[in-house]
Amino acid sequence: MTQDSVGQHPQVVQHVAGQDNPFDTERLKSEVVRLGPQWHSPVDLGQGINTGSVKLQKRFARRLRLFQIPQDLTGKRVLDIGTWDGFFALEMERRGAEVVAVDIWDEFEYEKFKFVMKVRNSGIRHFRMDVHDLCPDVLGKFDLVLCAGVLYHCRYPLVALEKIRGVTQGQLILETVTLIPAFHRNVPMIMFFPGDEEAMDTNWPWGIAGAATLPWINCALQSAGFARVEHVYRPSFSAWKGLQAMVTNNPARGRSVTHAFV
Ligand SMILES: C[S@@+](CC[C@H](N)C(=O)[O-])C[C@H]1O[C@@H](n2cnc3c(N)ncnc32)[C@H](O)[C@@H]1O
Repeated sequence: MTQDSVGQHPQVVQHVAGQDNPFDTERLKSEVVRLGPQWHSPVDLGQGINTGSVKLQKRFARRLRLFQIPQDLTGKRVLDIGTWDGFFALEMERRGAEVVAVDIWDEFEYEKFKFVMKVRNSGIRHFRMDVHDLCPDVLGKFDLVLCAGVLYHCRYPLVALEKIRGVTQGQLILETVTLIPAFHRNVPMIMFFPGDEEAMDTNWPWGIAGAATLPWINCALQSAGFARVEHVYRPSFSAWKGLQAMVTNNPARGRSVTHAFV
């Protein structure tokens, strides 16, 4: 992601997964190792093979519960932003949605995603697209948008939320890293963050993620045009983390899940 990417015509790569699964168990296993060894999420590939450990499977099952994605998505158009290897996109497809997935995969991660789509015989349409470039003219509008683990990577988080609002006609589920300062937790604050690439290139001392307080998330979503905002999961142990922030003189962080409605 670069500053230049904002406002430019998005680089779009579309692919519809194949209808056949040519992998026997041994080939599946060797592909999982070749494309790994570490996978971001625990995708069930069938034939008793999962790309993640039991611990990872439990972690993602918990995240799924916390997101509170509707069980029945029949007839809904759904967008998964920052899909990575497609775990949540596949789950929403399984629940009946017509799913579009976007990410800024590098070639290796994109190969993983395409492998998963092929093995799962998925009909998910996918685009290599930056969240800052989301555009209703290219993608259409969605009844449900999932943006999990992406906002804190964004150089322009408010612009990203405005772009998300532009493609949402129903509900957004936003999961992000939330700032827990020692004081002023009720103030809509966000840490300065130069964006992933610059942060990595320069060894940015605050870590590679930009985090915001819950009030910032609330105000920013409303400013981006969402009519109603509800935090459905707040960072756990925030009193303890606030104390840590005070002692270390460095804000703490935790995950939150927010639902926003147009
Ligand atoms: C922490 S992972 C989250 C993956 C998955 N959504 C989840 O919650 O487990 C972040 C993903 O977002 C993608 N990403 C980062 N910045 C992005 C951007 N500006 N636009 C679209 N995707 C982005 C990354 O490539 C990566 O796949």
